[in-house]
Amino acid sequence: MTSPTHVAIIMDGNGRWAKSRGLPRVAGHRAGVEALRNLVRAMPDFGISVLTVYAFSSENWSRPKSEVTDLMGLLKLFIRRDLAELHRNGVRVRIIGDRATLQPDIGGLLEEAENLTRENTNLTLVIAFNYGSRDEIVRAARKLAEAAVRGEILPQQIEMDDITRSLDTADIPDPDLVIRTSGELRLSNFLLWQAAYSELVFVPCYWPDFGSDHLAEALRDYAGRERRFGGLSPEEAVAPAIVR
Ligand code: IPE
Ligand code: IPE
Ligand code: MG
Repeated sequence: MTSPTHVAIIMDGNGRWAKSRGLPRVAGHRAGVEALRNLVRAMPDFGISVLTVYAFSSENWSRPKSEVTDLMGLLKLFIRRDLAELHRNGVRVRIIGDRATLQPDIGGLLEEAENLTRENTNLTLVIAFNYGSRDEIVRAARKLAEAAVRGEILPQQIEMDDITRSLDTADIPDPDLVIRTSGELRLSNFLLWQAAYSELVFVPCYWPDFGSDHLAEALRDYAGRERRFGGLSPEEAVAPAIVR
């Protein structure tokens, strides 16, 4: 069975999960953190090298201030509570997204998590926080433009690899599989460049209900896919071209 190296998840549906239980949205976000914790603990069973999770988008700032504050608080709590365990389990933590506009205490915590776990090799956990693909591409374009102004690169020499290397995901392989929970069928500004040839799986359950069984099912679905990257399937590629 072909397993993906990199699985990326859009953890969606916390609010609806809470609403369906008559609870405030923040209860859904708390349950969402719990689901993430459990999934990361189960990761060694799956042989996946990189797990990326979409935790807060660059557009989520448009939510009510109290919800934004709750989400910032939950990220801080997650890092404070779980960092030691993640490190013990050999998890390398990476954060993608714009840090410049985050509160300094959050920026500091994210840096601490990355620095502590830098050498770990069992699993790379990439947390997309204050992340949006378009924002990431704009920041990459600025970096390249600045390098051009400094005379380090000629505009006509800019290649796809230069853009790839200027993104927050610089040294992270593209996701093989992108999963979105909650039944929504869209990417919501997540890894638009990187997911150009990713397989997509949409799961109807809300994120707090997502567990290892759902992941196993998504992986079975992935294993049955044929990835062609614009080419032909192997059988077609070797078939002699006799029909004119
Ligand atoms: C995902 O759940 C978490 C974040 C976007 C931060 P939502 O909060 O989007 O939950 P729904 O989509 O409203 O149910
Ligand atoms: C995407 O979910 C962002 C995260 C899961 C962090 P949203 O709930 O923000 O996306 P839309 O608004 O439904 O597209
Ligand atoms: Mg949502």
